[in-house]
Amino acid sequence: MKVAVIGGTGLIGSQVVRILNESGHEAVPHAQSTGVDVISGQGVEQAVTGADVVVNLTNSPTFDEASPAFFQTSMDNLLAASRKGGAGHFVILSIVGVDQVPRLDYYRAKVLQEDLLKAGPVPYSIVRATQFMEFMDAVLSWTADADAVRLPATPIQPIAAKDVADAVAEVAVGAPLNGMRNIGGPEVFKLDELGRITLSHKGDARTVVTDPTAGMFAAVEGDVLTDRNAHLAATRYTDWLA
Ligand SMILES: NC(=O)c1ccc[n+]([C@@H]2O[C@H](COP(=O)([O-])OP(=O)(O)OC[C@H]3O[C@@H](n4cnc5c(N)ncnc54)[C@H](OP(=O)(O)O)[C@@H]3O)[C@@H](O)[C@H]2O)c1
Repeated sequence: MKVAVIGGTGLIGSQVVRILNESGHEAVPHAQSTGVDVISGQGVEQAVTGADVVVNLTNSPTFDEASPAFFQTSMDNLLAASRKGGAGHFVILSIVGVDQVPRLDYYRAKVLQEDLLKAGPVPYSIVRATQFMEFMDAVLSWTADADAVRLPATPIQPIAAKDVADAVAEVAVGAPLNGMRNIGGPEVFKLDELGRITLSHKGDARTVVTDPTAGMFAAVEGDVLTDRNAHLAATRYTDWLA
């Protein structure tokens, strides 16, 4: 199958391209660095024309109130070009429980992206993943100082980017779900505990202070970011750290 992977140079996109090409498909990465800009529209039609499947793994440069405009414009451009270019399947990667956290601009932006896809002209699949293991360093950095990292006890089900890429590649070459598939890591941790495991593994002597008001995940109510009934990936967090 011919697959246009938009955002195909990113953390997930680059692995999806590799997995698809290794399994005999013809996947091509597209991004600003290859001359395609989903916001201005430059190169978008050429990128998707002739592709059987379009996989959109772009990400907004910021997680703030500018993020809805990124997803609105990029989806408008990509869906119009995909319809014109004859693609039969459009895939996006979203977040488990994303519609349950309306206080976060970025999560509202991802719900908007899902809604635009569902209402759009191309058969589709939405893969919703839990938080990437690779994302933990950024999460720790947001609320850290020289002595401590403050984190809420929000339940998190970390998944390795490689496992996410495997799932996205599998969905991309299947029939459109015209619906959603949830994928998650094999274990659920409280975020503060995950922080302690991570610092200890790195030999970082700072303490983790449990703080229900700290950082982005303070906006999350209960365990909405986890799904024990999701397709569970194999990689455990401590094995990934090792
Ligand atoms: N972080 C998580 O835990 C998590 C969980 C679930 C789902 N997700 C979702 O996973 C998706 C992929 O995330 P990721 O971490 O793989 O992203 P990433 O590493 O930041 O990669 C983003 C990709 O988008 C491209 N891009 C950005 N702006 C662009 C533009 N204007 N035009 C064309 N390409 C553009 C980038 O390349 P250039 O810079 O060269 O353009 C890059 O290839 C995101 O949509 C995110 O919402 C994330």
